[in-house]
Amino acid sequence: MSKDAVVAGIDIGSSKICALLGEVQREGRVHVLGVGVVPSKGIRRGVVVNIEQAVEAISAAVAKAERASGYKIVSAYVTVSGAHIASLNNRGVVGVAGEERIIREEDVQRAVEAARVISLPADRQIVHVIPRSFVVDGQDGVHNPAGMAGYRLEVDAHVITGGTTAIQNMARCLSRAGVEVAGLVFEPLASAAAVLSDEEREMGVALADIGGGTTNLVAFMEGSVCHTSVAPLGGGHVTNDIAVGLRTPLGSAEELKLAAGQALYAEVAPDEVVRIPGFGGGGSEVSRRRLCEIVEARLEEVCTAIAGEVVRSGYDGLLPAGVVLTGGVAETPGIETLAQEICRLPVRTGRPHGVSGLGDLARGPGYAAGVGLLLWGAQAEYSPAAAASVGKPVPTGRADGRRAVLAKSAGRVGVWLRSFLP
Ligand SMILES: Nc1ncnc2c1ncn2[C@@H]1O[C@H](COP(=O)(O)OP(=O)(O)OP(=O)(O)O)[C@@H](O)[C@H]1O
Ligand SMILES: [Mg+2]
Repeated sequence: MSKDAVVAGIDIGSSKICALLGEVQREGRVHVLGVGVVPSKGIRRGVVVNIEQAVEAISAAVAKAERASGYKIVSAYVTVSGAHIASLNNRGVVGVAGEERIIREEDVQRAVEAARVISLPADRQIVHVIPRSFVVDGQDGVHNPAGMAGYRLEVDAHVITGGTTAIQNMARCLSRAGVEVAGLVFEPLASAAAVLSDEEREMGVALADIGGGTTNLVAFMEGSVCHTSVAPLGGGHVTNDIAVGLRTPLGSAEELKLAAGQALYAEVAPDEVVRIPGFGGGGSEVSRRRLCEIVEARLEEVCTAIAGEVVRSGYDGLLPAGVVLTGGVAETPGIETLAQEICRLPVRTGRPHGVSGLGDLARGPGYAAGVGLLLWGAQAEYSPAAAASVGKPVPTGRADGRRAVLAKSAGRVGVWLRSFLP
């Protein structure tokens, strides 16, 4: 890998689109060079619903990040989300080829490839094949089989699939914005890369990214992904409830939520009032408690969905590191306490770390996915095989020989990136 490799990430959300560029330094560390954020358009609940609008918004975010960094984004890692995402566990088996029956990285990669063999309808495609653990000649629980002796190597993998149409529409938007997809990353996996520690992953943890239109969850156990899910619920629903409940335009409802919203209405003083702008001018006053009651009711539903997924994962009671919240909604005051009461697990808010040069703009939990894309890209660039063998979430799409380039706008060619396509 060249010293000044540059990676780009574009987090395409229902509320905002965030493009980031980062320089990959030694050991996969990333220094952020530029960030561009614009309000999302043409995306609903994680999927493209209006190509023209989405292209315009993506282009605007890309242009901002390019201006900030002095680089041109030709290829980027991109988040994928939405109700079309599904997951299953599968096993891949291969014979060990080498003369002395010593398992090599190539054998590990072949086993992971074998786990891709599942019958899928024509309208679905694989997004990730994430190794969970390996079995060598019947001995299970192996984390890194490379270097071990054996005849038969098996991998238990978590396979994430997505709807081909939704993915193609996203890729079309990016292509029209002049960006090639270097790799797709299921949104909470990207967020996890930016906020979780190795220890949390090892002990057992669930990460829930609560965005504008979706709540995406990923659970880790013994260092690897054990469960993923998507729920079509997010902060946009809270805003909508406020608009309907207090009879105010959506824009005012969003402003009220950000200025005075809080997840535990009982903690708000009963005499506090907020001003509610009405339709067509005018307005009224309402107690802040009433506003927060609406916020709490919807966030209770979101947290109940998260708790339900933790139970469905089969690991409830086995996640000592609890739940980590990311996404813009994780900024809501009091949400940690509410989630803790409902999930009956420790809850913390995850802010992106592990990169340098991140300005104030992108420090909140809503930027975890964007920052995670850079880390994901850096890790894939640095050592995809090593990362896969320790069960870290790396893109495992087939490298089909296609390559993408990030060129510096000054005309100097940047670096060639390995292209991981789904
Ligand atoms: N300080 C805050 N308090 C409460 N809610 C907030 C705050 N900041 C952002 N939000 C809410 O978070 C949501 C946006 O979150 P985020 O930016 O993670 O969404 P997204 O990634 O665009 O959407 P998605 O991932 O669902 O497609 C919006 O509903 C917004 O109102
Ligand atoms: Mg998001």
